[in-house]
Amino acid sequence: MYFILFLLHLSESFNSIYIFMKKILLGLAAFALIVTACSKEEVSEQDLTQQEIIKDNGEIAGKSRACHSDYNLKRQIKENPGLENILNSIESKTKRFIDSKRPGNGNGGGNNGGGEEPPTDFPIVTIPVYVHVIYSNNQENISDAQINSQIAVLNKDFRMNNSDANQIPSEFADNAADTQINFTLAGVTRTSSSRTSWGTRDDMKRSSQGGVDPIDPANYLNMWVCNIGGGILGYAQFPGGSAATDGVVISPQYFGNTGFVSAPFDEGRTTTHEVGHYLNLRHIWGDGRCKQDDFVSDTPASDRANYGCPSYPTSHCRSTDMTMNYMDYVDDACMYMFSNGQKLRMRAVLEADGARASLAN
Ligand code: ARG
Ligand code: ZN
Ligand code: CA
Repeated sequence: MYFILFLLHLSESFNSIYIFMKKILLGLAAFALIVTACSKEEVSEQDLTQQEIIKDNGEIAGKSRACHSDYNLKRQIKENPGLENILNSIESKTKRFIDSKRPGNGNGGGNNGGGEEPPTDFPIVTIPVYVHVIYSNNQENISDAQINSQIAVLNKDFRMNNSDANQIPSEFADNAADTQINFTLAGVTRTSSSRTSWGTRDDMKRSSQGGVDPIDPANYLNMWVCNIGGGILGYAQFPGGSAATDGVVISPQYFGNTGFVSAPFDEGRTTTHEVGHYLNLRHIWGDGRCKQDDFVSDTPASDRANYGCPSYPTSHCRSTDMTMNYMDYVDDACMYMFSNGQKLRMRAVLEADGARASLAN
C-alpha cells in the first residue's frame, strides 16, 4: 500500500488523489484500532443475541454501543448461566421453522404454487398489551388517546396497512410483509413517581425499585412508558429472557403519534422497532460488519446503521441497504416495512412450540 502511495506521490498531478487515498488509509487504520480496542474478547454471532437482551440503545450511544454491550453481556451471563442454551435452542427452532417453509420440501411450501418465495399465509394472531405509564410530571402521564394511537400504529405497521407503504422502492416491493399480527390494549396502569429518569437496568419493571411489575408476561406484552434518559428512545427484551423483566420500554415522547410526542420520532415507530426485537428480530445490519448476519435472507447485508432519512439507493456491502426497514435506525417517517424473512422469524416464536406461543390469541 505505501509503495503505491509513494509512486503516486512522484507525480504532482496525482497529488489530490494521494491526499484522498491517504485520508482513506488513515481512516481505515483508525477504524481498525477502534475495532481491536472494542473486541479484545471475540463476540460470536450467538453472543450478539445476548447483548441485545440487555439493552438496545443505538442512536446517541451509537459509537460505543458494541463495547458497552460486551460489558453487559458478561454481567448477564454471570447472572444467568442457563441463558445461552435457551437462546441457542430458540435460534435452532427458528431456523428449523424457516427451513420447513422453504418451497419444495412438501411441508408448507405449497400455498404459493411452488414459486421461489416461502409461503406468507398464516393464521392472524392478536397479542394483548398492558401499558404501564410511570410519570414524574403531567406531560409524562400520557393520555389514553396517545396510548391508543400507539396501538393503532402497531396494527397498521404489522399488518402493512401503514399509509407510507407506497414509498417502498420497487426493488423491495416483493419483500414487504403483512406479518398477520394484531395488537389489542388489555389495560393501562398509571404510577406517579419522583424519579425523573429510569435508565436501562429494568428498575421500571420492579415494584421493589419503585417501578411496576409485569402483568402475566407469558400471556401479555408488557410496555413500560417512562423517561429512560440519555437520549435513548426505547429498549426491548428478546425472547428467552427472564419473565420478571419481559417486555419493552419506551420513553413517553416517542410513544404513539399524538399528544406528548417529539419529532423526528413522533410516529410511534420506536415501539414498532422494539416489538420487532421482542419478537426476535435483529437490526438489519446484524450489528456488525458485512458478514454479520441478521439471520434474515431477504434483508441485504450491510455493515452499519443508517440515520436520519437516507436517500435511495443507499448502498453498503455491495447491495442496496433496506434503510426503510423498521429494524434500521432511521427517523420514524423514513421506516415503513418489515420483510417476509423477518415475518418468518417473528412467526416462528409465535408457533405452538415457540418461545412466545402463549402470547398469541
Ligand atoms: N432502540 C433504538 C434507540 O433507542 C430505537 C430506534 C427506533 N427508531 C426510530 N426511528 N424510532 O435509538
Ligand atoms: Zn434496536
Ligand atoms: Ca440479511
